[in-house]
Amino acid sequence: MDAKGLKIEAARAALAHVEDGMRLGIGTGSTAAEFVRLLAEKVSGGMRIIGVPTSERTAALCAELGVTLSTLEETPELDLTIDGADEVGPGLDLIKGGGGALLREKIVAAASARMIVIADESKLVDALGRFPLPIEVNRFGLRATELAVARAASNLGLSGPLTLRVTNGQPFVTDGGHLILDASFGRIPDTRALSNALHAVPGVVEHGLFLGMAQLAVIAGSGGIRTIQAN
Ligand code: A5P
Repeated sequence: MDAKGLKIEAARAALAHVEDGMRLGIGTGSTAAEFVRLLAEKVSGGMRIIGVPTSERTAALCAELGVTLSTLEETPELDLTIDGADEVGPGLDLIKGGGGALLREKIVAAASARMIVIADESKLVDALGRFPLPIEVNRFGLRATELAVARAASNLGLSGPLTLRVTNGQPFVTDGGHLILDASFGRIPDTRALSNALHAVPGVVEHGLFLGMAQLAVIAGSGGIRTIQAN
């Protein structure tokens, strides 16, 4: 099965956790998009859910496919969020933000009673950090923030290029109007220490380490579907 097929299978298996009447956080990325397509089929078949999207992109797809949407202003507490990930590590700690939606993804996941991550098996890692860590930063003081992030990382023994994300020759701008630095630190031995250190940098809006947020991972591989519970 190709990568797209695996994403569809993970999304399909996660859909079994969605119940009629749920308030649902809806993730961003190519795997989450497959979930939205399958969810839309259920909705057109009569399932009632209220969806809170994690990006403008997901909102547009939901609207196009007829999935009823709400906001965290109207619906501040959610039953379940289903979202993809760039890396799934031990304890279901995640790196997210490859699609640039990490801030809204984290806000929505934190507003949810449960989070299920959906991915193909290529996302499973023994330690987080092979995928460059996305760090959402304020536009103001970019260079100073970059230096502060590098110093914070260095204090933890981490180093590597901090690359301003660019698309079509222009800095990538998030739905919140911020920029993204992709940090190629490599293996991150102490993810909690890095999370705390990054949060202490004023120009950092949020980072893509999702620690202790997901309760279940639905992983699709050549051998079928595997579910992994957080401890
Ligand atoms: C979006 O900002 C990300 O957090 C995505 O969830 C992540 O990049 C996974 O995307 P794919 O499902 O496209 O790999």
